[in-house]
This record gives sequence, structure tokens and C-alpha cells, in this order.
Amino acid sequence: MRISVIGTGYVGVVHAACLANLGHEVLGVDIDEARIAALSQARAPIYEPGLDALLARTVREKRLRFSTSLAEAAQFARTHFVCVGTPQQPTGPAADMRYVDAVVDDIAPHLQPGSLIVGKSTVPVGTTARLAERLKTTTSHSEIAWNPEFLREGFAVHDTMHPERLVVGVTSPWAEARLREIYRPMVDAGVPFFSMAPSTAELVKAAANSFLATKISFINAMAEICEATGADVVTLADAVGEDARIGHQFLQPGLGFGGSCFPKDIRAFAARAEEIGVGEAVAFLHQVDEINIRQRRRTVDIARGLVGGSFAGRNVAVLGAAFKPGSDDVRDSPALDVAATIRDEGADVRVHDPEAVDNARPLFPELQYTLDVSKACEDADVLLHLTAWPEYRRISPAGLAATVRSPNILDARHGLDLAAWRSAGWTVRALGRATADDLRSAAPACTAEA
Ligand code: NAD
Ligand code: UGA
Repeated sequence: MRISVIGTGYVGVVHAACLANLGHEVLGVDIDEARIAALSQARAPIYEPGLDALLARTVREKRLRFSTSLAEAAQFARTHFVCVGTPQQPTGPAADMRYVDAVVDDIAPHLQPGSLIVGKSTVPVGTTARLAERLKTTTSHSEIAWNPEFLREGFAVHDTMHPERLVVGVTSPWAEARLREIYRPMVDAGVPFFSMAPSTAELVKAAANSFLATKISFINAMAEICEATGADVVTLADAVGEDARIGHQFLQPGLGFGGSCFPKDIRAFAARAEEIGVGEAVAFLHQVDEINIRQRRRTVDIARGLVGGSFAGRNVAVLGAAFKPGSDDVRDSPALDVAATIRDEGADVRVHDPEAVDNARPLFPELQYTLDVSKACEDADVLLHLTAWPEYRRISPAGLAATVRSPNILDARHGLDLAAWRSAGWTVRALGRATADDLRSAAPACTAEA
């Protein structure tokens, strides 16, 4: 089938390459000319395992090409996936729908009869119905459906090729049939295919992200209680998660969630619920957000304590800039938020990250960056572990002790063997582990933090 994918960011470029991999003929469209020029030479705009090879193959085999023209997309295909951003509005908590709206408005006059627009972006409930009304004023021969995306960054290609479920919100049998046809290899392989009303599909996405964010804030709330009582949150999470009804996933305590999705999605969901008069039902999301942000402040406070009560004139080494390991994405990165706050309080802050330095530098030019862990740690008064890249587990604490000025470490991601760091002479602190002697490292979560 011929398909266009509009918006070639984290979701769109992976979706386009995976659809081409399924055997479709795909045109990727973006307004970013430099991005389209690079993609046309099979150069990926993001770091995502497996993406470079997939792009190279599908572009070489001419099943995937790129353009900046929506009119060309409308002539080329009758199915158009919309994967543009829905960030938080600059002045409030709600989703900024201007990019999605612009795509629908701009492509509508060019659509061939029988076209299907399929939204993949995360949107407020009611968006499909609102856009369908808008579409009606331009064309009576086309429809709109919603097919939310559940991929995780760092696993985007895997999650797109092997989704746990496909969710489609449709208003007609032909729209459902077309989506089943597009995803046929996956459905035939046993991936559950849920067809429902568009409003339910939109809410499935909001509910899934809200639940996961709530789980993380729950365990971080427990971390605060542990710290105040001398208990150990890593041991607690291990024991609580062993209950199969609760599970270990997304129960990894620490600095909390960031990224381009959880923070803005829970705020947008709460804002939309308030707009339609059911705000009380999800008022708890405000607390989920507050608990999450509080972990960043707690991290700064503990680090300040480790350097004697003030950051002025101190050197701080930061391990990690990405919002999570396995990604070069620094959007709403908790690590960079903490690093920038400490810099504002007067410290010199040197940040290491294996993939995200180039993305971080333009956003936080006041921080220093390096690709060498020892350089980041030279003469440091404290070392902060803020993103759990697996390679940080392999650092030799004894080797690094000679590089720093004072051997202080704060593990805000519970990824290090703190007993080994302590034996090598370091003063160690970790969120949610006030005085515990049992400083085992947490097992890496089998999803995001792996
Ligand atoms: P992104 O910012 O990485 O990419 C968006 C792309 O859309 C950019 O390349 C931008 O240039 C392009 N764009 C903007 N306006 C356009 C227009 N009028 N025509 C063509 N292209 C246009 O965003 P993303 O992270 O891929 O997220 C996209 C959507 O998917 C969001 O709603 C997000 O919440 C949702 N989502 C993201 C993820 C994720 O892991 N990143 C996962 C699931 C869902
Ligand atoms: C998340 C969801 O997992 C995806 O299903 C969803 O499609 C996506 O949001 C989205 O809608 O954009 P992603 O943001 O890529 O995916 O990353 P996650 O692996 O979910 O991690 C999110 C944040 O939570 C990271 O900052 C991570 O460090 C943090 N986290 C995760 C924890 O603090 N503890 C955990 O136990 C798990």
C-alpha cells in the first residue's frame, strides 16, 4: 500500500521505516528541510538502535523516500499518518495542537477521494471528532481515525515492529479494514488489534501514560518515606514488585520521569479533564507531577549537603544528560534540570553523556560537556549519577577517587554498586536510602533503564 507519514521525528521516522519494512511504499514528509535532505540520504535525525540500518535498506530499495510537500503526499497516497509534535502550550498545561491542526488543514484541499488521515500523535480526547468536523468543510470523501503510538525511545524500532497491541479509533468499517490491511503482518503474527471509538482510543493513550507516570511517582513517594525513616527504597521496591499484581516494571525509584511525553501528557490530560468538567477524577495527576519535580529538588539539596552547604566555587561532575539511557533525547531531561540548577547556584558543572551531548549543548550552553568520564570528574567536589547508562556501572570507583578533589557521590538512579564505591573510600548518598548499610545496586529495569 502507498502511505505517507507526516512529521519525521522520533515517532514518524521510525513509523515510516517500519511501514516500509512491512512492504509498503512510504513517503515521509516534514517541514524541516535539513531533516528531509539528511533523511533522503538515509541519515537518521535521532539516535535509535536499529534505525540506521533499517533506513539504509528501505531507502536503498526505494520503498521509502522523503519530501517537504504535503500536496505531493496527497497525490502519492490515500493513507496519511500524522506524527507531528503535541508539546505543552507555552503559556499553560494543555497540549499545543497547532501542528496537528496545521497538517490537517494544509493537506485537506489536496486529498484524493477515499483518503484516510490517521493520527498517531498523543492528543486530548475529542480531537478526532473536532478534526472530522473541520475536514468536512473541505472534503466529504475522506475520513479521520486515531491510532495512538506506545513506543519507548531507545526501543522505538523494536516496539514499532513488535507492538504489544494495536489500538485504532475509527468511525467506519472501511477505515478499520484499511488499518487492519496496513498492519496485517503484525495482526497475523498475533498482535492484539483493538478497534474502538476514536474517543476511547485517545483515552487509552492518556490512561496508559498516566498510569506509568503514577507508578513511578508512587515509588518515589515511598523513597521520601524511606529516607525519613532510615529504610531502603531499593529493597522495598524489590519486595513490593515481586507481587505479580504490582510487578517490577516502572517501579524504579530515583530522579523521576522526564522526556517529551510523561510530563506534558499528564498535564494535558488533567487540563482536558478540567475543561470538560471531570477534573476531579484525575486531580491526583497534579500530585504525580509534584512528586516527580520534587525528586529534582531533593537531588540538588542532597548534593549541596555533600559539598558543605553551598555550591559557590565548587566543581560538580554529572553523569548523564539524556532523559533516560538508550536515547539522545534531552527534552525535559531531569539530569539537565538538576545540572542547570546547580550551575545557577554557583558551581562549575561538567556533564558527561555518551549520546546526548550534541543535543544538550545548545539548550544549556552554560554547562560544560565531555565525552570522557575522567575529564568530567577532574577535581570534582561531588559526582552525580543522573542517567543510568549501563557503562556507568563499569566505572572503577578506586580509579576515579584519584581524579576527583573530594570523593563524594550521589546515585540518583540506583544504578551503581554503592557498597563498592564506599569500600573505595567514597562518601555515598542515594535518594531513598538514608542510612541503609545494605547498598546493593538495583537490578536494571527490564524496560526503560535496561
Ligand atoms: P518530534 O518533535 O520528534 O517530531 C515532530 C516532527 O514533526 C518534527 O520533525 C517537525 O519538524 C515535524 N512537523 C511539525 N509540523 C509539521 C508540519 N506541519 N508538517 C510536517 N511536519 C511537521 O515529536 P515526536 O517525539 O516524534 O512525537 C510526535 C507525537 O507522538 C507527539 O504527540 C508525542 O506525544 C507522540 N509520541 C511520542 C513518543 C516518543 O517516544 N517520542 C511515543 C509515543 C507518542
Ligand atoms: C514513554 C512510555 O513508556 C511509552 O509507552 C510511550 O509511548 C511514550 O512515553 C510516549 O508516549 O511518548 P519514553 O518516554 O520513551 O516512553 O520512556 P520511558 O522508558 O517510559 O521512561 C520515561 C521516563 O521515566 C524516563 O525519564 C525514565 O528514566 C523514567 N523512569 C522509567 C523512571 O524514573 N522509573 C522507572 O521505573 C521507569
